[in-house]
Amino acid sequence: MLHGKRILLVISGGIAAYKALELIRRLRERGASVRCVMSKSAHQFVTPLSVAALSGDKVYDSLFSLTDEAEMGHIELSRDADLLVVAPASADLLARMAGGLADDMAATVLLATDKPVLAAPAMNVRMWLHPATRRNIAQLKKDGVRFVGPDDGDMACGEYGPGRMAEPLAIVAGIEALFADPPPPAPLLLRPADARAVAANGNGGGGLAGRRIIVTSGPTHEPIDPVRYIANRSSGKQGHAIAAALAAAGAEVTLVTGPVSLPDPAGVKTVHVESARDMFSACFLDLPVDAVICAAAVADWRVAVEADQKLKKAGDEPPVLRLAENPDILRAIATTDARRRPALVVGFAAETEAVVDYATKKLKTKGCDWILANDVGAGTGTFGGDSNTIHLVRRDGATDRIAVEHWPTMSKAAVAAKLADAIAGFFSRSPAKPPAVKSGARSSKLKEVRP
Ligand code: CTP
Repeated sequence: MLHGKRILLVISGGIAAYKALELIRRLRERGASVRCVMSKSAHQFVTPLSVAALSGDKVYDSLFSLTDEAEMGHIELSRDADLLVVAPASADLLARMAGGLADDMAATVLLATDKPVLAAPAMNVRMWLHPATRRNIAQLKKDGVRFVGPDDGDMACGEYGPGRMAEPLAIVAGIEALFADPPPPAPLLLRPADARAVAANGNGGGGLAGRRIIVTSGPTHEPIDPVRYIANRSSGKQGHAIAAALAAAGAEVTLVTGPVSLPDPAGVKTVHVESARDMFSACFLDLPVDAVICAAAVADWRVAVEADQKLKKAGDEPPVLRLAENPDILRAIATTDARRRPALVVGFAAETEAVVDYATKKLKTKGCDWILANDVGAGTGTFGGDSNTIHLVRRDGATDRIAVEHWPTMSKAAVAAKLADAIAGFFSRSPAKPPAVKSGARSSKLKEVRP
């Protein structure tokens, strides 16, 4: 059950910190990867060297490390995990979590995360029973934090009672139970409308207020006959995450999606389509916009002549399907007339070898501005999975120079947030222009869902 799960283990100060070492081993034995953050006082109980050796990864402990922040910022660190486990969770760290403090790396990753958190408290019995700790635990439970333990027993300080950290195998069982029955995602308290208002007031916000952006997502289904179709394995997770991240950054987003089993992202106008040609029409109906992100895995071909009736087995020979090429939505938008061409056109390149070379060629042949190249080779788990490794290939419009940025492997949500930041950066540098105005009405053939 834990195979392939990414766990961020936060170790705070306490005698029980030695048990965190065994916890790392038990988790890795079960196929999970463990990355560790240590609080300053945890260093008094276990060494970063043992933690790094057992986890097979470096230990993160400083908010102000230039190297760490350049390689993996604290926000990415907290989001690039499936679960955050705090073991041992000291009274002090629980208090800081309950108060929303971010005064060291441990507290900061816990405040910045959008992932479930499981805490294994460990402290003196009087501290555990103190009304302040009781209040903090109640608050954290209300915030969705799950707990394992503490157990009753003899304490290192000579007292007896509740406060001993749960045993590593009990924590593993708590983690498995959490994955089997995950808590609902943390509510997004800042609704897109609020984000837009914050950004418009110049108080920070997401930086995309007033920008209209189209995102394509998911596969397309190309009908063969009334019951059969050609499709691919795209889940739509990356495209949907991008639409949600852009909306959270204040943009007015239209998501044009092929058939997926994901819910429509909140605060995003979602248009459901089936085929590449429907996706093409839906995108063009929404132009002009400021940016288009083509994340859909559009079928390259469709059946040239769709059968009106279900094809039947007749005679000895199976039917021959003649294919016709679908319109290339990305290329059509990138090369459309200057009046309708968005200021920024972004595509994806799914490659299995020479990822950056092929992506650079694709950027030129399609005429787009940026390509997010991802390796979808066997074993990467990108298609349908939750993480992605991106190489961002950009063409500078003025100089025509190509620049490549290699992003570390991160969750699709983290890729979406990083892309939203890059797009906000692009618009903050480009000369201000009035927001794109929507033209025309929609085809009645397309099912439109408004949140
Ligand atoms: N795309 C599109 N319309 C199509 C085909 C692709 O908009 N009919 C977009 C995709 O959304 C993606 C990019 O173009 O942004 C991918 O280009 P594509 O040529 O399909 O790349 P691959 O699938 O990687 O194809 P190949 O390597 O076979 O050329």
